[in-house]
Amino acid sequence: MAVERTLSMVKPDGVERNLIGEVLARFERAGLRIVALRMARLSLADAQAFYGVHRERPFFQSLCNYMSSGPIVAFVLEGDGAIAKAREVMGATDPAKAATGTIRRDFALSIERNTVHGSDARETAAFEIGFHFSGLNLYAR
Ligand code: RTP
Ligand code: MG
Repeated sequence: MAVERTLSMVKPDGVERNLIGEVLARFERAGLRIVALRMARLSLADAQAFYGVHRERPFFQSLCNYMSSGPIVAFVLEGDGAIAKAREVMGATDPAKAATGTIRRDFALSIERNTVHGSDARETAAFEIGFHFSGLNLYAR
């Protein structure tokens, strides 16, 4: 399998409940390597740009309000098949449907306040990594 990089975030509900370390540890235990990391507070405009693909969805406004409501931790994970592997560790969007042992099953508060983000494809990963980390801040493989 190809070595990939994917962008993940601890969402505001996770930061608020002191779950940064727990979330990072789950990805590390799954064999993924953290290759970039930063804490930030997204403005509403930042959140709207980051989740631009969801512009037409009914939950877009609420999602962007929530994602800009408090600090997040953004990080880049690297490993074999990292995009799919990270999403496995996260679990399904809706915590009620997330598999046992996943981050969202164990910690998410609702379908919106679901603790963690992960890129869903190579193209979105490239956009999202670029959104949070400039080339200069990202160390090369
Ligand atoms: P994410 O992008 O954050 O990793 O989550 P995902 O791929 O599992 O889900 P996606 O469909 O991309 O939705 C992005 C985020 O929007 C919120 N959401 N709310 N109220 C709702 O029905 C609803 N559906 C999605 C969640 O925070 C979801 O993670
Ligand atoms: Mg998504």
